[in-house]
Amino acid sequence: MKTIFSGIQPSGTITLGNYIGAMKQFVELQNEFNCYFCIVDQHAITVPQDRLELRKNIRSLAALYLAVGIDPEKSTLFIQSEVPAHAQAGWMMQCVSYIGELERMTQFKDKSEGKDAVSAGLLTYPPLMAADILLYNTDLVPVGEDQKQHLELTRDLAERFNKKYSEIFTIPDVRIAKVGARVMSLQDPLKKMSKSDPNKKAFISLLDDPKQIEKKIKSAVTDSEGIVKYDKENKPGVSNLLSIYSILSGKPVEEIERDYEGKGYGDFKAGLSDVVIGAIKPIQDKYYALMESEELDLVLDQGAEKANKVAFKMFKKMENAMGLGRKRK
Ligand code: TYM
Repeated sequence: MKTIFSGIQPSGTITLGNYIGAMKQFVELQNEFNCYFCIVDQHAITVPQDRLELRKNIRSLAALYLAVGIDPEKSTLFIQSEVPAHAQAGWMMQCVSYIGELERMTQFKDKSEGKDAVSAGLLTYPPLMAADILLYNTDLVPVGEDQKQHLELTRDLAERFNKKYSEIFTIPDVRIAKVGARVMSLQDPLKKMSKSDPNKKAFISLLDDPKQIEKKIKSAVTDSEGIVKYDKENKPGVSNLLSIYSILSGKPVEEIERDYEGKGYGDFKAGLSDVVIGAIKPIQDKYYALMESEELDLVLDQGAEKANKVAFKMFKKMENAMGLGRKRK
């Protein structure tokens, strides 16, 4: 059986973009693959975090993974910092990375732009991500479009390591969904929906209540044409809303266009609110129940135990390949 690895940062709210671009896919993939899903808390500290908030967000993300349908019987769910091999292997991957290639990463450029004090961790973020993936002999990494460049670098680093030291890594493929790989901001449909957007109206959180969702969709930027039609070039706002509608309802875009023929954006947005709330409400119900239960800790303990076993083996192979440690007499 092929292996899948993916991670999400516990850095604040989890958005509809994270759900559609990543989590929703994970749930479908766990039936066919050996899956590892990670809460990448060490990646989150590459930018400043409040310790209590971070702790809260880690737990909350774990509950959300389960609430969207990750089944711990099928998948391994764990916290990155509870598996020390990630940081250890991350260091080794840093040592096979070049500063120039790390500086070229668009995420690094975006996040460091205009700031005078940027952590070194923000630059060395991708080798840690490569370590996450390579420790598990991963075949496939499902992510949203924005992570594609990091995946290409992961492949380069794996190939470089295999060539320079020893052929120990599987070269992972990236898996990007055909639709929904880039859910756009509700306020600026040319920008991706991001949890770090200072304008809260730009994204829908998986934990927004129905009133907030309705309001955000009502104020979503469209155009003045009043026709519900998919046209990414000329109608990016409406097209983004149509994609969200289609993915969450399972209806093809053409059918939704037909349903709203002759109707304005008001009706369409009301319909979309119903669809989004209908998709999110059951997730929230499960989420709040899980946050109160002890199940979460049990799942995370078991996840860390399993991940530690697998990751430690590869980490030792890496040390051996690089000549770290000593050979006993
Ligand atoms: P993160 O936490 O920013 O996002 C988690 C996942 O959500 C996807 N995503 C989106 N998809 C569609 N539309 C959007 N607007 C949108 N916004 C986010 C992301 O592509 C991602 O799949 N570096 C990663 C975390 C990571 C990781 C890994 C991923 C660390 N190690 C190993 C895969 C494998 C990140 O910051 O994702």
